[in-house]
Amino acid sequence: MKHIALYPGSFDPITFGHLDILERATNLFDKVLVTVAVNHRKNAVFSGDERVALIKECLQGKDWAENIEVDQFTGLLVNHAKKVKASTLIRGVRQISDFEYEFRMALTNKRLAPEVDTVFLMPDEEFTFISASLVKEVAYWRGDLTSFVPKNVAEALQKKLSDK
Ligand code: PNS
Repeated sequence: MKHIALYPGSFDPITFGHLDILERATNLFDKVLVTVAVNHRKNAVFSGDERVALIKECLQGKDWAENIEVDQFTGLLVNHAKKVKASTLIRGVRQISDFEYEFRMALTNKRLAPEVDTVFLMPDEEFTFISASLVKEVAYWRGDLTSFVPKNVAEALQKKLSDK
């Protein structure tokens, strides 16, 4: 039986930290489905379709990305996990400060769907401080995004912000 893992997140936008977690996940599971949460209560810079397209562009030409698919969902994550037959959720934990929120989320998901487990992965040390919100802050003030996000994402962010 194939072991499918779901890697959920806002990915607004995807960063080098997310890509590092994703590559690690491909070594552990037969298939990894990156799923963009489209939550209408959150003010996202990019639409769900735009975030999916940016992630797909980032994965193009990567030999480790063969067993990765990208989609989006609205609603409860565990319902999406069941729908796509994923038995594992992947979350990246960068620092201890992430842990409390991640722990609560994992336990909530476990209560809602006991058959779905959460696996925490650590990114490489060089990515432990990168977050999508800091990337947006740097982009807003026209800072250099080279070490935070791939080129296509940096360009899309700069375009988005200049359109505003
Ligand atoms: O990248 P993020 O914003 O930390 O990802 C959080 C996300 C999208 C995984 C989480 O908010 C989520 O699963 N939202 C969907 C709604 C849901 O299932 N909530 C219950 C779990 S607490």
